[in-house]
Amino acid sequence: MSHERPAAPDFDEIIDRRGTNCSKWDQMEPVYGVSPDEGIAMWVADMDFRPPLCVQRAVEEMAAHGIYGYAASDAVQREAIGWWMDRRHGWRPDASDIFTTHGLVNATGLCVDAYTDPGEGVVLFTPVYHAFARVIRAAGREVVECPLALDHGRYVPDFDAWDAMMTGRERMMILCSPQNPGGRVWGRAELEGWAAFARRHDLVLVSDEIHCDLTMPGVMHRAMPRIEGVADRLVMLTATTKTFNIAGAHIGNVIVSEPKLKARFASRMAALGLSPNSFGLAMATAAMSPEGVEWLEALRGYLDGNRRLFEEGVAQIPGVRPMPLESTYLEWVDFSDTGMTREEVLRRIEGDAKIAVNHGTSFGRGGESYQRFNIATPRARVAEAVARLQSAFSDLQ
Ligand SMILES: Cc1ncc(COP(=O)(O)O)c(C=O)c1O
Repeated sequence: MSHERPAAPDFDEIIDRRGTNCSKWDQMEPVYGVSPDEGIAMWVADMDFRPPLCVQRAVEEMAAHGIYGYAASDAVQREAIGWWMDRRHGWRPDASDIFTTHGLVNATGLCVDAYTDPGEGVVLFTPVYHAFARVIRAAGREVVECPLALDHGRYVPDFDAWDAMMTGRERMMILCSPQNPGGRVWGRAELEGWAAFARRHDLVLVSDEIHCDLTMPGVMHRAMPRIEGVADRLVMLTATTKTFNIAGAHIGNVIVSEPKLKARFASRMAALGLSPNSFGLAMATAAMSPEGVEWLEALRGYLDGNRRLFEEGVAQIPGVRPMPLESTYLEWVDFSDTGMTREEVLRRIEGDAKIAVNHGTSFGRGGESYQRFNIATPRARVAEAVARLQSAFSDLQ
């Protein structure tokens, strides 16, 4: 029960998640052949931390009531989103522009359905979160992969190259902002560039901002609605689930103000009979509160410490380069200068170091020489992972 938990978060606490039907630890052996008994799970994007106490209290109150019927409405959550966005991101959506979906992969699928027809193209800027391509292909649309360029080891847009790739069959683009897996927080000029790209090619601009709260201290995320000239084609996706580690609640938001885009989205929601899960609503609403803010600030500081430990540690291995992390807790590490094949790199990470990571190839064009490491775990585990990696590649020293 929550009263047994101290109010202050203890991110150093090792909490055993094995045997709880949790994807990250209970599926690492079937997926990667790495046993959870001796391995370290650094793949699926959730954290090995408890959410703030206010979230646990909300679940306990519902559980204690004992009747789990339909929720009346998501109005309270929509108000909380307005408060949160205003306070954290300097922009307040109109509550009537917010839809509650079953998470953002679900929201992506709904956007594909609402704004494109079978056979049309959806533009992705790769490497990027793998579920986008999976959902687009499953819906019978074409994935148009526009590779991000590299500038001093960081991803940047390459609009001239992408302009030349457009065929006229593209209807929608999905921008990941902040970017998963590269950890970039896009600057104002870059976002304006994407807005102009969407206008030039007449694309619906879906901006997935699920990682917007998880910036490193001192780094500011700019919400896409704050960019001028984009509101008439913008569909923004946000969620509390990454921020507060409640991904199992499967709840997310689609914010869209342009009347035609809004009507099309509403019609897809209605056709599929979607309405929110009441536990998810209660958890998300409780999280967007002053207590949630305090917890988030502590989390960001802790993740920054993990980032420093991980990046400094793996950068000591010759030929291994982590991309500097500006947001997310997902370290994107380039192994190309080790001169090893992808198979050899993975044999050492999974077989020798016994670490389960997301393979770079699953993120699309440009991800081939990278692997993605989730550092949202107690610092002692990050330190252990760094030591194992240094040992697995020690012949390069
Ligand atoms: C960019 C991005 N969008 C969406 C998701 C998943 O969203 P959900 O759990 O709400 O389906 C993730 C998870 O890692 C993500 O990184």
